[in-house]
Amino acid sequence: MTPILSIQQLDVSYCGTRILNDVTLALHTGKILGVVGESGSGKSTLLQAVIGLLGDHGRIDHGKLEFDGIDLIRIKKKDMRRLRGKRLGMVFQHPGASMNPIRKIGVQFLEALHAHGDFDKKEVRTRILNMLSELRLTDGERILNSYPFELSGGMNQRVAIALAMVLHPELLLADEPTSALDVTVQAQVVRQLMDLRDHFGTAMMMVTHNMGVISYMVDQIAVMYAGRVVEYGNKLDVMKHPQHPYTKALIAAIPQLHGRKMVGIPGQPPVFGEPYAGCPFAARCTSARAACRQELKLVPNDYGNGHWTLCPYGCD
Ligand SMILES: Nc1ncnc2c1ncn2[C@@H]1O[C@H](COP(=O)(O)OP(=O)(O)OP(=O)(O)O)[C@@H](O)[C@H]1O
Ligand SMILES: [Mg+2]
Repeated sequence: MTPILSIQQLDVSYCGTRILNDVTLALHTGKILGVVGESGSGKSTLLQAVIGLLGDHGRIDHGKLEFDGIDLIRIKKKDMRRLRGKRLGMVFQHPGASMNPIRKIGVQFLEALHAHGDFDKKEVRTRILNMLSELRLTDGERILNSYPFELSGGMNQRVAIALAMVLHPELLLADEPTSALDVTVQAQVVRQLMDLRDHFGTAMMMVTHNMGVISYMVDQIAVMYAGRVVEYGNKLDVMKHPQHPYTKALIAAIPQLHGRKMVGIPGQPPVFGEPYAGCPFAARCTSARAACRQELKLVPNDYGNGHWTLCPYGCD
């Protein structure tokens, strides 16, 4: 089956400094890919590259990006604008980036809908209010009459999700969509996102630091470190049998209410743009060998079932 999103050997830079390196991922209709990795590893950059919003300083240096067979690197700006919102939805890491601060929320919904078709006014209002209520925003009329600054952070985050979902996109890129929500609302939002997937076959690429969301929601996991995907596979394979020492350390760092102590990962990733030899994780890796700090070829080491890592030695 052809993936709805195909990312191949993608390199991205900001102001000439390479951030993403050789990222290859594929996402199929109806599947949810969780992207994890520590702060600054390039997760948001990856999503922004896909949706064509790297900004003035960002550049795709190399690689391929295809959505449903459409070349997202060479696509005309006006065609990309048409895709965005309707077929490609995005929930930004900061809800403010999804919304205009000086326009009422109702107006922003209407603009988003009318940019992509003629909708009956009454039907549109019902559709928006239903979507808000599914996201536990029951005071819909007041919300539509509010400016973003009049709502709480968690409310704005849900409004941003509703805005991205209202046109039932085929691919939803969501950058930490539940980070500002308390656990009960978070559970509702996660269920709503999964309903969207179930009803419309929406594929999702979701960045989250929340391992609870990962274990409940996603089908595949991509682990990012220093601008590279260092491990990829089905959720259970990655969670139960992590093969990259960074993934293993990340899983060991998950807070537990009872049981084992949390273990941090001492040290820092390499600074983007500064050269390093071998594996970018070698300096922090407790199982690193001499070869890891030398000229190590970073090629996927395949464990079967689509599970691979960039570590040639593995953890088992
Ligand atoms: N617009 C930009 N201009 C210049 N550098 C940028 C820009 N956006 C991100 N970067 C840099 O790219 C690197 C990766 O940032 P990115 O935001 O993709 O990380 P992230 O994995 O999403 O982190 P977090 O978990 O903290 O959100 C960082 O070093 C960051 O400073
Ligand atoms: Mg980010």
